[in-house]
Amino acid sequence: MTSLGRRVSETADLVTVALDELLPRAEGPEARLTEAMRYAALGPGKRLRPFFALETGRMFELEERPVLRAACALECVHAYSLIHDDLPAMDDDDLRRGRPTVHRAYDEATAILAGDALQAAAFEILAHADTHADAAVRADLVLRLAVAGGARGMCGGQMIDLLGVKDDLGAVARMQRLKTGALIACAFEMPLTMARAGDGERHALLAFAQDLGLAYQIVDDLLDAEGEEALLGKKAGKDAGRGKANYVTLLGAAAARDRLALLTDQTKAHLDPFGRRAEFLRDSVDFVLERRS
Ligand code: IPE
Ligand code: IPE
Ligand code: MG
Ligand code: MG
Ligand code: MG
Repeated sequence: MTSLGRRVSETADLVTVALDELLPRAEGPEARLTEAMRYAALGPGKRLRPFFALETGRMFELEERPVLRAACALECVHAYSLIHDDLPAMDDDDLRRGRPTVHRAYDEATAILAGDALQAAAFEILAHADTHADAAVRADLVLRLAVAGGARGMCGGQMIDLLGVKDDLGAVARMQRLKTGALIACAFEMPLTMARAGDGERHALLAFAQDLGLAYQIVDDLLDAEGEEALLGKKAGKDAGRGKANYVTLLGAAAARDRLALLTDQTKAHLDPFGRRAEFLRDSVDFVLERRS
């Protein structure tokens, strides 16, 4: 394994342990709900959003614990978004992270509630005094996650995805920016807030995040078209069958790959102002875009 691969997997383990501690235990008459939350959030995800958050925290030499809590909150919202994305009313998927989706392992009502409660858990974690000594910083973290997950962020993008976009790449790019890009950007915004970074660094890193988010979803769409279910841990070939509009279904895989190659260089260039401090983030672009799962 490369040193970056090791760093990603060590960070993933750190996040899983922290999430295990932060999430409610499966006890009492509501245990079915807390068990479903834990099933979704503690499952074998790549934890890439937390990785970006923690790497950014390291770049700004922040104390790890507050960033780790913020990263866990973000991962809770991501896990909730996947539970709901898989529901019959949305993508109707049976497999996620190599296991039955939450509504398959439990039932639809439990899956809806587990998603709802994971979203609430995210804000509980952020608002808790343990996350940051400064209440104004905590309020800012709450605000950023709320915006990223809401109608002008992930949920808005999911709505556009479900309604469908006609042959319009600009509209597809906007949908991707909302449904996937917003939560990825939040992974950078939260440590930027804690670091009280200046406008120059903030703009550079958010431009990086925006391109990275778009590229991330193009890879997801390529993997849907060409990937293997056994590696992906989720079903392949769904998007074309469902008439989903994305770079791959609209342009074809070869042209989508060309766009991705251009986007990769552009994405890395945003990190130039950070020089060697951004070494791991720069390398993570190739790592993330060459993923097979
Ligand atoms: C899947 O996200 C959904 C997208 C936004 C593309 P990930 O590829 O990060 O999924 P996990 O968390 O590793 O399962
Ligand atoms: C999901 O996009 C984005 C979310 C906000 C959850 P997809 O529907 O393409 O994600 P997968 O392929 O099911 O993971
Ligand atoms: Mg979807
Ligand atoms: Mg889906
Ligand atoms: Mg997909």
